Amino acid sequence: MPVSPVAIVTGGAQGIGAAVCIELLKNGYRVCVADIEDLKAEEFVREQEKSFGKGNVIAIHCDVSKESDYSKLFEETLKYFKRVDVLINNAGVLLEHDPRKSLEVNLLGPLFGCHAALKYMGKSKGGNGGVVINTASLADWIFGFSGARAIFGSIRRLNISLPNTLTTIVPGEFEKGETGWAAYPSECPTEE
Ligand SMILES: NC(=O)c1ccc[n+]([C@@H]2O[C@H](COP(=O)([O-])OP(=O)(O)OC[C@H]3O[C@@H](n4cnc5c(N)ncnc54)[C@H](O)[C@@H]3O)[C@@H](O)[C@H]2O)c1
Repeated sequence: MPVSPVAIVTGGAQGIGAAVCIELLKNGYRVCVADIEDLKAEEFVREQEKSFGKGNVIAIHCDVSKESDYSKLFEETLKYFKRVDVLINNAGVLLEHDPRKSLEVNLLGPLFGCHAALKYMGKSKGGNGGVVINTASLADWIFGFSGARAIFGSIRRLNISLPNTLTTIVPGEFEKGETGWAAYPSECPTEE
C-alpha cells in the first residue's frame, strides 16, 4: 500500500495556512501544523481529527524566526511520520509595527525553512527530495523590504539539491477567517 505523503505547514493554525492544511488532508496528505500559537494549533488539530482521523494531523510548536525551532520541527515530524515530502513556508506577519520582527518572520523564516528542508529533505543529504512552497505577498512589494520573499522562488541553488521543486505563490487579498486560498490566487508563478 502506498504511504501517504507528509506536509509541514508553517502558520497552519489559521487563515491561509489552515485552509492549505485542510486541502492537503482532503487530498490524502498527513499534515504537521507548525505554529507559534500552540493552543490555536492544537484546537485546529483536534477539529481536523474529527474529519481526517487521529494520527494524520499533528501540531508542533515552531517560531519560524528561530532556526533551532526548524530543526526541532523537522526532527519531531520525522520521528512521528517517518517522512517529510512538502514544506510550506506560510507563516507571516502583516501590519507588524516592529520592522525587525517583520524581517525575522517574513524574510528569515522562509530562509531558515529552505535551509532546514535542504538538510532534512535534500537528496544530497540522504533525504528523499520533495517540494518547498513559499507564500509571498503583494504587500511585500509595497513595503519593499521583504519582496525578497518572492525572490526565494528563483533561488535555483536551492532547487539543485532539493528536487523536485521550489515554488513561490502570491495569494490574492482576503479577510482573516476567509478560506479563499483556492478561490483567489492572484498569481502563481512557478519556478522550475
Ligand atoms: N491574507 C491575505 O490577504 C494575504 C495575501 C497575500 C499573502 N498573504 C501571506 O500569506 C501568509 C498567511 O497569511 P494569513 O492571512 O493566513 O495570516 P494570519 O495572520 O491569518 O495567519 C498567520 C499564521 O502564522 C502564525 N505565525 C505568526 N508568526 C509566526 C511565527 N513567528 N512562527 C510561526 N507561526 C507564526 C500565526 O500564529 C497564524 O497562525 C502570510 O505569509 C501572508 O503574508 C496573505
